[in-house]
Amino acid sequence: MPAVPRKILLNPGPATTTEGVKAALVVADICPREQEFVRLLDQVRDDLVRIAGGDPETHTCVLLAGSGTAAMDAVLNSVVPPDGGVVVINNGAYGQRLAEIARCYQLPLYELTFPWGQWPELSLLRETLHAHPRISHLAVVHHETSTGLLNPLPAIAALARDHGVSLIVDAISSLGGVPVNIHTDAIDYLLSTSNKCLQGMPGLAWVICRREGLEESRQIPRRSYYLNLYQQYRHFEANGQMQFTPPVQVVYALAQAIREFWEEGADNRFRRYRRNWEILMDGLRDLGFRILLPLERQSPLLTTVLEPDDPNYNFDRLHNALYEKGFTIYPGKLQDSATFRLATIGAISEADIKDFLDALKAVLQAEGITIPLSYSL
Ligand SMILES: Cc1ncc(COP(=O)(O)O)c(C=O)c1O
Repeated sequence: MPAVPRKILLNPGPATTTEGVKAALVVADICPREQEFVRLLDQVRDDLVRIAGGDPETHTCVLLAGSGTAAMDAVLNSVVPPDGGVVVINNGAYGQRLAEIARCYQLPLYELTFPWGQWPELSLLRETLHAHPRISHLAVVHHETSTGLLNPLPAIAALARDHGVSLIVDAISSLGGVPVNIHTDAIDYLLSTSNKCLQGMPGLAWVICRREGLEESRQIPRRSYYLNLYQQYRHFEANGQMQFTPPVQVVYALAQAIREFWEEGADNRFRRYRRNWEILMDGLRDLGFRILLPLERQSPLLTTVLEPDDPNYNFDRLHNALYEKGFTIYPGKLQDSATFRLATIGAISEADIKDFLDALKAVLQAEGITIPLSYSL
């Protein structure tokens, strides 16, 4: 394969991939009904269960063709029974999306809304679970990529367990990047995707859960033709295939990304991400940048940076100049403050982060922005 220019993506996925993952996309054409492909799917699904801390004997991975939102949609429409109900913790854009999906399917919804970047009030969650015995599920985003907030999963999981409620965790931007484990975190349904901390290509999403839970969900009236977890599971069980056309090459790339994940080792990957984030934090502080979240709520995966008050500062110009130099930064999502986001996930190294900080400083200087930066408040 001819060399592909390397770009450093500091947007929160699709993340920077290795040469190995890019090369894995180029394979001999194959019909996805062939046994060779069925074996690949089997391997990928079992590996994903193991990455989430599960055992393929008791747990399964229902792969779906689609982006992360497909997994959010599928789990909610497939597992919440009509006489049950779902509590959604909404403290960011993806918690909000979970609630929107629940509304779309007219599921009995108990939405607990908190300011973006704040942890949920656990007393309110406890009261809600206590007051509504029909609630069968609790859905929360592990890492709110809209702000960089890590939700307090152990405390939330304990409340779900105490109330006999199944826990749905969107680990779309955390699985593979920080520790998350279906057993220690008592997760019943864990959602993730190929193109974030696992460093594969976009196009696959999945739900990891107990096989028994899926068997039980077959009683629930089917609310979606395409994104039904039980139907997809049934196909995998019957013949190892996806129900509809899989993104074949993306599966090969994910298989390679998983091989690289095992080679690096989960702990080493967590350490690399944390180290990259720490270097970024030090560099941002030296330039005078402020960040949105206090460190106890901040993930080592994505940082929301407050925009400085310098009259010469303009996000689009900063973005464009950095893009020219091979670095992609990402706009903020907050309505009430001017921010931008820097993700430190993907196949990037300490040297890449240092190069980025040098490039950032050079662009700020070229734009006539005073360093250290200033904030009026
Ligand atoms: C936590 C989280 N959930 C859900 C999604 C939605 O994924 P997608 O944009 O791939 O549909 C994202 C995307 O960034 C995310 O970060």
